[in-house]
Amino acid sequence: MPTPVILDVDTGYDDAVAILMAAGHPQLELLGVTTVAGNAPLAVTTDNSLRTLDAAGYTNIPVIAGAHRPLLRELGGSSDAQSQHFRFPKAREATPGYAVDWLVDTLMASDGEIVLVPLAPLTNIALALYKEPRIVEKVRKVVLMGGALHRGNMTPNAEFNIWIDPEAARIVWQAGWPIVMVGLDVTGRALIPPDDVARVKGLTSKRARMTGELLDFCVQREVVGWGKPGVQIFDACAVAAVVDPGMLTTTHCFVDVETTGTLTAGMTVCDVDGLTGHPPNCHVGLDIDYARFFRVMLDGLGG
Ligand code: BDR
Ligand code: CA
Repeated sequence: MPTPVILDVDTGYDDAVAILMAAGHPQLELLGVTTVAGNAPLAVTTDNSLRTLDAAGYTNIPVIAGAHRPLLRELGGSSDAQSQHFRFPKAREATPGYAVDWLVDTLMASDGEIVLVPLAPLTNIALALYKEPRIVEKVRKVVLMGGALHRGNMTPNAEFNIWIDPEAARIVWQAGWPIVMVGLDVTGRALIPPDDVARVKGLTSKRARMTGELLDFCVQREVVGWGKPGVQIFDACAVAAVVDPGMLTTTHCFVDVETTGTLTAGMTVCDVDGLTGHPPNCHVGLDIDYARFFRVMLDGLGG
C-alpha cells in the first residue's frame, strides 16, 4: 500500500521537483498540495504548484491555497531564483476553499495513516493546529524541510522556511506529534552532481523532463550548495525520506524555535546533549545517504 502524503508548499523550483517526485513515486499517494506564501506571494506559489502538476498530467491532484502571509510578520525576502513564475502550461484553477480547512477536514476524516510533508513556512500547519488540535493524533508523522542544526541560509543560524514564520514553526514543534526535521545539515549533503543531473535529463517521462529543466535552471542560476559542486534540491530530500526513512541519520532530541532573538530569530535550537531536560520532540536529520536519495528521486521520476 502506498503511503498517503500531503505536501504543503511554496513552489519554488525545489518544491516543484518534490511535487513531481511525490506524484510519480509508486510508494506514495499524493492526496493534495496545499500552498502558502514563502518563496513568492501566495498567488505565485499556488499558480506554480498548479503548473507543475498540470504540465506533468496530474490534473486530478487538488491544489488548495492557504495563508497569504506569516502569522505575525511581513512576508520576508526570497531569492530571485526561488520567486520565479513558472511557464509550464496550466489546465485549471485552484480547488475552491482554504488550505487550513482542507487540511483539517482531510486529516480528521483519515484513519491516521497520512504523512504530512511541509516544505515551506509553517503558517498553514500552525493555523490547522489552532483550528483543530486533534489533528495531532491523526497524522502518522510530520516530515518537514526546514531548520538547521549548524548553519542557516537566511541568517548565520536560521533557515528560510523557519525564518519566514518562526512563530508558526514554534507552534508546530510544540504540538506533540512525531517530527522528522530535514534541515540544511541534510540537504547540503544531498547535492546532485552534474552526472546525475544528466541521468535525470536522460529519462523520458514528462515529469523527468520538467525536472531536467528545473535542475538546469538551478545550474544556470548557480543555486548550488555552499561552494560544492552539485545542485541543492532542499524539498526533494524530505519527500525521499518519507519513502526511505533509513537514508537519514538522525538524533532524537528536543527542538524549540527562537522567536525573539535579535540575532537568532528563526533558529531551530536543537538540544542534542539534553541540557534542557525537556523530552525529545524531534528526529533531527544529521546526514543522508546520497545514493539512496537519488534512487528514490529516479523512482519518483519514472527512471
Ligand atoms: C527552503 O526554503 C525555500 O526557499 C526552499 O523551497 C526550501 O523549502 C530551503 O531553505
Ligand atoms: Ca519550499
